[in-house]
Amino acid sequence: MLEEGKYGYFDPEEREYVITRPQTPTPWINYLGGGEYGGIVSNNGGGYSFDRDPRYKRVLRYRYNAIPEDQPGRYIYLRDDESGAFWSATWQPVKAGFDHYQCRHGLGYTVISQRHAEIGSELTYFVPLGKKLEFWWLKLRNHSQRTRRISSFSYAEFCFFDAAKDQQNVDWVQQIQRGVFEDNIIFWNAFMRKWDDVFMTASLPASSFDTSRESFVGRYRDLTNPAAVEAGRCSGSVAQRGNGVGALHHQLELAPGATLELVYVLGVTSDPAALRKELPELLGPGAVDRHFAALRESWRDYLATFQAVTPVPELNLMLNTWNPYQCKTTFDWSRFVSLYQLGIDRGMGFRDCAQDLLGVVHALPDQAKKLLRRLFQCQFADGHAYHLFYPLTGEGTMGEAEGGKYNWYSDDHLWLIEATVAYLKETGDLDFLAEPIGYAGAERAGTVWEHLLRALEFTAGHRGEHGLPLNGFADWNDALNLDRGDGRAESVWTGMLYHRELNLLIELAEHLGKSAEAARLREAAAQMKAAINDAGWDGEWYRQAFDDQGGPVGSQSCGAEEQIYLNPQAWAVLSGVADAARAGMALSRAKELLGTEFGLVLLYPAYRKFRDDRGGVSTYPPGAKENGGIFVHTNPWFIIAELMLGLKNEAFRDYQRILPVYKNAIPDRHEVEPYVYCQNILGKEHPQFGLGRNSWLTGTATWAYVAGTQYLLGIRPHYDGLIIDPQVPDDWPEFTVRRRFRGRDLEIGFRGPVAERGIFIAGERLTDPRFIPLDRLQPGPSLKIRVHY
Ligand code: GLC
Repeated sequence: MLEEGKYGYFDPEEREYVITRPQTPTPWINYLGGGEYGGIVSNNGGGYSFDRDPRYKRVLRYRYNAIPEDQPGRYIYLRDDESGAFWSATWQPVKAGFDHYQCRHGLGYTVISQRHAEIGSELTYFVPLGKKLEFWWLKLRNHSQRTRRISSFSYAEFCFFDAAKDQQNVDWVQQIQRGVFEDNIIFWNAFMRKWDDVFMTASLPASSFDTSRESFVGRYRDLTNPAAVEAGRCSGSVAQRGNGVGALHHQLELAPGATLELVYVLGVTSDPAALRKELPELLGPGAVDRHFAALRESWRDYLATFQAVTPVPELNLMLNTWNPYQCKTTFDWSRFVSLYQLGIDRGMGFRDCAQDLLGVVHALPDQAKKLLRRLFQCQFADGHAYHLFYPLTGEGTMGEAEGGKYNWYSDDHLWLIEATVAYLKETGDLDFLAEPIGYAGAERAGTVWEHLLRALEFTAGHRGEHGLPLNGFADWNDALNLDRGDGRAESVWTGMLYHRELNLLIELAEHLGKSAEAARLREAAAQMKAAINDAGWDGEWYRQAFDDQGGPVGSQSCGAEEQIYLNPQAWAVLSGVADAARAGMALSRAKELLGTEFGLVLLYPAYRKFRDDRGGVSTYPPGAKENGGIFVHTNPWFIIAELMLGLKNEAFRDYQRILPVYKNAIPDRHEVEPYVYCQNILGKEHPQFGLGRNSWLTGTATWAYVAGTQYLLGIRPHYDGLIIDPQVPDDWPEFTVRRRFRGRDLEIGFRGPVAERGIFIAGERLTDPRFIPLDRLQPGPSLKIRVHY
């Protein structure tokens, strides 16, 4: 359990992952900031920053996927002014030897420590709460017996604020910006127009500085041997154009055993005068410690909304720290900005955001509501929605479907219902349903309730010859592009999603006393259920779709490729369309054909060649991504389906197969970070089976969290109470959960398995063994609950 791996280990107490060697198989990164100003930082200081929108408000530059890898970053060069030898406090970019190296990725901060030539350094990066800036907090210690003269040089490479332009028009971008050094602050801004300034400063007066990269680095050199560092002094360059850097040089003296702190601040400001006023407070005595303590406190608060102690430490580690942490990161950045998604062209995913909300709504209901409003604004009056949007401007696009014949996705809009219902069940804020919100590109507004109905209407109005939803450009599976111009392709899976969302609205309509509406929706659900069971059932499992020629996709009749897809098997259960016999058969056949030691693959057998009638999915080689890879996002769906059918032991095995923490034992095979889920793992038909890709920004985070907290541990909010229905493995004698619900902290102790289920509050057995009504959960001090399961 929780053993040290080749590259690092988990520190559950500090809620950190500790990296012990710099040469990880890929950069193992962390996120700074809370969805506004922030960025990415790797275990070697690589990465970049931006302010709210990585495309339109970039602060630091990064050379994606380049050699040398993972550069530039937030660097501090350290130089022994006696010998002239230098190194960097983050191993990269100089890559000098070291006596000690360690990187601690914590919640919203990263600490990299090193020891070289008897000088210890510890560099902490974080974004203080509510500020548009980041601290680089450097602590030095002289471990030697003699006084040391050390020079430190910061290196921050500024980006043009429009990150796409920075790559596209090197003339314009480099003519219009300049560097300024005033009052110990480097400003990087535009000559002629007012954009926000980027600034960099430090807690001690600089001995010298550079604002021009060309001057700091020197001709035909690189970041391993910048001219300024070699010379021991910057040249005072005030860039009149070109590439900008925040290079601040400090000459420091450390007595034997002495320590010294130097705090750098990098950020953006629209008001340099106000910044100048704020800096003394920001850099004053104890300020950085206070900001750091406040940051850690805010994460403790966030996590306190759900904490579990189960017999499985790996599960505890994920559910209590890393999984909710990743949920917040996906909620903040969707699929926009990571080491794989470069924050330039994609924006926030509509369906992605709607799903990401499910993982944080219990902890951040107000932020969830804000996001819902933004999503409703991306919905058109006919019910369908933009596929992507940009966080700063709100501008929406149709993504790859843009300009095509079917320029919509069949599922996007339906996720609005899933997300809104989750918000309402968590908060009880039913008034939200009456709030008017404008439709995209239209004058008119509709209430939230109307928006939800429109989503259903769009799907109802776009059905094909089997009565199933038309596929449009794609369903959840972006890469399965079936429509070749005839407009016939239908998605069985979207039919299932539609059925599930109908059921959610029926339940809500009944709760609101809208019985006529509920009856109408029930009829639509019955129709869809019949269509799916008629045309969608293949004999042993459910089909995925029908293609543009009307042929089935994901059927035994498909021959050597695409016989079975995973999603319709899981969703047959999640949506309630399958009877017990079909549900059981579909899940067990899926497990047999799709299961692997690292999770279930998305389809089998994979496509062997490009197929115009399948599109994107068949551009991947067999076993990669949507073409038979383990698309991890879909595994929790399958696990939830198993749990819904009461397949407790099997479900937990499947859950363990995808838990990142176990990958700590096979880092060279898995490559990506063992503390977060990745989007895809190469599948059994790929020669590199087991290799993970696209870590961090994946719907896996949310769905694994929902599967773990709501279906495995079984605590699910409802409009008027809390459902308690654990489906844990038979060999768990007990576990506990602390959960906040509608402002009240609950301490729930579970014991099982027992002959008679029951819920007890203050010794009294509740009527329903699986439900705590709201009147027992009224605001008050922490409440102890016992559950026998
Ligand atoms: C990516 C997309 C997501 C899509 C999935 C499957 O993760 O962000 O929206 O559903 O791929 O294609």
